[in-house]
Amino acid sequence: MSKNQIKISNESESVDPQSLFQQFAPSIYFETPKISSKKDWFIMADQVVPATKEAFWETIRRWTMEPQFVIPPVERAEITLNESNEVDDHNGISDKPTETISRTLIPKRKSKDAALMEKIQYFENDKEARVIYEPLDSKLPFYYPKTYRNDNEQQGMLRLEVAPLDTLNPLVTDPKMQYALKTILHKLFKWCIQNRLGYTKKAHHDVLVPRETYQPMYQYMKAKYGPQLVANWTEQTDPKKFVYEDIAIASYLLCIWKQEEAKTKRRQNFVDLGCGNGLLTFLLSSEGHEGYGIDIADRKIWPALSGKKKDLLRVQALYPAKAIYPNTEWLIGNHADELVPWIPIIAAKSGANCKFIVIPCCFYGLDGTRSLSLPLSATLGKYRAYTDYIKDIASKAGFHVEQDYLRIPSTKNIAIIGRTRERDQNDNELAESVARASQAFVPRKTDREKEEERQESLKKPKLEK
Ligand SMILES: C[S@@+](CC[C@H](N)C(=O)[O-])C[C@H]1O[C@@H](n2cnc3c(N)ncnc32)[C@H](O)[C@@H]1O
Repeated sequence: MSKNQIKISNESESVDPQSLFQQFAPSIYFETPKISSKKDWFIMADQVVPATKEAFWETIRRWTMEPQFVIPPVERAEITLNESNEVDDHNGISDKPTETISRTLIPKRKSKDAALMEKIQYFENDKEARVIYEPLDSKLPFYYPKTYRNDNEQQGMLRLEVAPLDTLNPLVTDPKMQYALKTILHKLFKWCIQNRLGYTKKAHHDVLVPRETYQPMYQYMKAKYGPQLVANWTEQTDPKKFVYEDIAIASYLLCIWKQEEAKTKRRQNFVDLGCGNGLLTFLLSSEGHEGYGIDIADRKIWPALSGKKKDLLRVQALYPAKAIYPNTEWLIGNHADELVPWIPIIAAKSGANCKFIVIPCCFYGLDGTRSLSLPLSATLGKYRAYTDYIKDIASKAGFHVEQDYLRIPSTKNIAIIGRTRERDQNDNELAESVARASQAFVPRKTDREKEEERQESLKKPKLEK
C-alpha cells in the first residue's frame, strides 16, 4: 500500500465528504485481467479507498448479511453457519480463515432463479484483510460471475479478484456482468467511506411490514398485473414508472390490510382520494377489496381499468372540510397533493374504524396552497419537514402515527399511517387551523376548465386601440 493511502485514511475529520466519494475512479481490467499472486486468480478491478480496515470489515459484514442491497435479483441471505477461529497470523502465512460463514442467497423470482449456497471466509493478518465468496452449487444464477470464487481486498485498496471456472478464458466481456461487478465495487467503496464518516442508514424500510412478507407479495402482484398494464397503457406518462410504483404501493397496503384483518376480522375497504389514473384503486379492487377512487378530473385509461365496475373511478371535486366517509376502513392519499394534509382529519371524522395512509409529495398546506412555511434545518430536508407537518396534523387529529419508507422508485417514499387512535380529535389549535383553512380551500381547476376559460377569453372582443 502506498504512503498516500495511509495519509488519506488518517486525515482529520474536517474532510469534505463529497471529496471522498468523488475519489471513485477504479482501474478496470475486465477485458485484460491481471494475474493475481494467487494461482488461478485474476484481478478484475481495483480502487484506492480512503478508509480504514475497520470500515472495510464493517462493509464486508454488511455485504454478507444484506446482499440484497448490492445484488438486486437477491431477496435476502439465509445464514446457516457462522464460525470464528482463533488465528495467530501476524506474519501472513496462515491460510486459516478468522471466520467462516455459510449463506444461501434467496432469489426474488423463486420460480425462475435458483437459490445459491456460498461459503464465505474472512482472512486477516497484519498485511491484508481479505474475504472470499465461494459458490458451492455447480449451477450459477445469471447474476453471478462464472467463477469458483470471487472477491478480495487489502487495507487502503479494494481489489476485486475472481477465480474463473475457465482459467484459459478469464475475460469478462458481457456488458451486464461488467456493470454488475463495477456496481459491487462502487457500493463497497461507498459503504467504506460512509462507515468512516460515521453515517448511519438514513431510510428505515420494513418497519411495519417485514421484508419477507412484502417481497413475495410484490413478486406476485408484479407478475399478475405488470406486463399486461404496461402493454395497455393509454396515458401519456411513462407506464414503467407508474405501473410498478403503484404495484409496489398496492402490495404494501395488501400486507398491512392482512395484519388489520387478522386483528379486526373485517374485510378492509377503501376510498382513494385524488386517485389520478386510478391504477392503485384498480389493483386493490382487483385483489378483492371493495372501494373506489375519486378525482377532480377523469383520465383516458379509466374505462379500461373500471371494466364492469362502473363506479370504481368517480369524478368529483372534493371540499375536504365537508368530506366524510362513514363505514370506510381506509382513506388513501397517494401523492394526492392538496388533499394529503386533510386526509387524517377526514379519517378522524369518518368513524372509529376509519384509518388512513398518505404518501406526501408536494408541500401543500391545509389551505390548499403551497405557501406553507416549514421549519428547515441543516439535518432536516424540506421533504422530511413536510412529512413532520403531516404527522403533526395526524397526531392532533387523534391518531397514533406510524411511518415506513416504501420500496418505490419515487424519492417521495415516506408512508404515514394512522390505524389506531390515541384519543378523540379535540385539539383546539388544529380545530382553529381547520376552520381557517376550510374557508380558504378552493378545489383546483382541471386542465379542461383552464382550457375552457382560455377559449372563453379568446372569444371576448378586444379593446380597440
Ligand atoms: C399528483 S396527482 C396523484 C394521483 C394519484 N394518486 C397517483 O399517485 O398517481 C394528485 C391528484 O389529486 C387530484 N386532486 C387534487 N385536488 C383535488 C380535489 N379537491 N378533489 C379531487 N381531486 C383532487 C388531482 O386531480 C390529481 O389527479
